[in-house]
Amino acid sequence: MRIIIGNDHAATDMKMEILAYLKELGHEVVNFGVDTTQSCDYPKIGEKVGRAVVAGEGDCGILICGTGVGISIAANKVKGVRAAVCSDTATARLVKQHNNANILAFGARIVGLELAKDIVKAYLNAEFEGGRHQLRIDMIHDIEAGS
Ligand code: RB5
Repeated sequence: MRIIIGNDHAATDMKMEILAYLKELGHEVVNFGVDTTQSCDYPKIGEKVGRAVVAGEGDCGILICGTGVGISIAANKVKGVRAAVCSDTATARLVKQHNNANILAFGARIVGLELAKDIVKAYLNAEFEGGRHQLRIDMIHDIEAGS
């Protein structure tokens, strides 16, 4: 898979580890995050990754900030993004199976590295189930379209 990753200063170390892990798993990774711990603005990174994912520049995105919340809220403002913050593997699996989340988010200050790797793996290995779940996603996008 081609995965677009983004992070703010709170998650630089975690991003480096996850980026290496994704490569180990054989994925191609595009890095739109920061590589230093100098303070930066996570909305810009969430938006950039969101726009790239919706444009089809990658198969999915991974966003990491302190909590995973701010950066995913920003990404979710981009039409077509379904970013989900996950702090456990069951949620990571279900956001793909039921919500077809196109961006996985988590918090570097919330989950440890080994759990973060398991979350990433659970998300990437899961498959969207379609059917009634697609109808509900369509309803979400109707809300987004203002219809
Ligand atoms: C940065 O200090 C922190 O606010 C950010 O990484 C994130 O947790 C916001 O939701």
